[in-house]
Amino acid sequence: MSAVRRRVVVVGSGIAGMTVAVEASATHDVVLVTKGVLGEATTRYAQGGIAVVLDAAARPGVEDSVAAHVTDTVTAGAGLVDRSVAETVCGDGPDAVSALMRWGTRFDRVDGRLALGLEAAHSAPRILHADGDATGAEIVRALAAKVRSGAVVVRERTLVTELVVRDGAVAGVVCVGVPSGRPQTIDADAVVLATGGAGQLYSHTTNPSVATGDGLALALRGGAHVADLEMYQFHPTRLAVPGGGLISEAVRGEGAVLRDATGRRFMVDVHPDAELAPRDVVAREIARVMLEQGGTPVHLDATALGADFLARRFPGLDTRCRAHGLRWDREPIPVTPAAHYFMGGIRTDLSGRTSVPGLYAVGEAACTGLHGANRLASNSLLEGAVTALRCVPALASAAPAVFEGEPTPYAPRGATGQAQPVDRAELQETMWLAAGLVRDGATLSAAADTLAGWSAPADGTAASYEDANLLEIAGLVVAAALARTESRGAHFRRDFPQRDPGFDRHLSWVRKGDHAC
Ligand code: SIN
Repeated sequence: MSAVRRRVVVVGSGIAGMTVAVEASATHDVVLVTKGVLGEATTRYAQGGIAVVLDAAARPGVEDSVAAHVTDTVTAGAGLVDRSVAETVCGDGPDAVSALMRWGTRFDRVDGRLALGLEAAHSAPRILHADGDATGAEIVRALAAKVRSGAVVVRERTLVTELVVRDGAVAGVVCVGVPSGRPQTIDADAVVLATGGAGQLYSHTTNPSVATGDGLALALRGGAHVADLEMYQFHPTRLAVPGGGLISEAVRGEGAVLRDATGRRFMVDVHPDAELAPRDVVAREIARVMLEQGGTPVHLDATALGADFLARRFPGLDTRCRAHGLRWDREPIPVTPAAHYFMGGIRTDLSGRTSVPGLYAVGEAACTGLHGANRLASNSLLEGAVTALRCVPALASAAPAVFEGEPTPYAPRGATGQAQPVDRAELQETMWLAAGLVRDGATLSAAADTLAGWSAPADGTAASYEDANLLEIAGLVVAAALARTESRGAHFRRDFPQRDPGFDRHLSWVRKGDHAC
């Protein structure tokens, strides 16, 4: 008689969710739930690539090591990266990348060897990429094919609205069809949240519309610890035209430079690494220059790279620029910073265990301590793949993680009787102005009051659940940004512009009240 297989529900279909699903399906019954179509996740839009140290020692002209990757990760993270986490993620990188390739991902090669790109704050070229600038799309293509060809049950257009809890452990999910609103419950022995970030908190973002922090909100309501919510990474270069999208840091890695309205290359006066300074430094300087020049975008000048190189190395971006009527081989293109990556999230260990029995989180939805206050470029796909693979053995028991330090209890500032229904665009603008690249106590406090005056009663539509999730998370991001009275990495307070060693620690939170566990 065969043993009964445990059932796992995986929520989300980016690199982390699909990797868990593929790997776990060998030993578990896996149901993958995703609110759009399979693979419609932030991963799909990743351009630059995946950072990993493979056979650098054997490459003429490339000096690199896992230790150097760890050091770069720790340095970029501005005192908040957990070194042991960085050592594990960087050290496990080659195995995770091998799994992706075994499952069909084709990274770019030069003369048969994997091509290596350079991005900001990396001390060596170590970024694998695919189809030039479509790394995420290639990873999603390969993983989705693997998911579809195996034993994973896929439920598309299905939004999880609640965790089911029995005997103090997560035991399934309640979901609704999108757009039907038809409810259903899926029982499970373990639930893995791989729902990505929450770029839709902000009016300017590189994230797709699905990035509404659903897993983070579910975990909060389930009583899980969350951490580093004040740490939202803003990418320096989004194409500043309607529907513009991300312009990869790899373009600067290849030699493109940033210019102000007068054509001056302003980053050389700010940091020795100029355009390849840490992402928070570049994004904030662009915002400062934009303010100085009346709000108009700065320009990314890639003209020196030449038309042939741009079309070959960045085919997707080349096509996109032309579609917007821009010839980036001939003239600089307008760019502006935008919300890009949630470094905070559901607190987990390196196996994705949360503080709640039976509940796991991986990828951008999780906060392992890898990114600290400023994620090193292209470490996110790496973390997603590594932690997803490490999560699968941990699914065998429902044991929760135990974290050092008590989280601060947090009461959502409940909407009053006169609460106004939240308008998503207003919420996004409020967050951009108060909890964006530059923050201060007065503006954050005003935003907290504004958010508390809004409500988002779920009316059965996916949009109303998403609004409720965004509102809940926005309140906590603002509370966390108010609590960190210093500046560090992506979190810059103009009223506390210095780094304070008293804050060399993660700020973690747990929701007060009747949560699931
Ligand atoms: C990019 O291509 O610039 C994005 C890479 C990343 O966010 O890691």
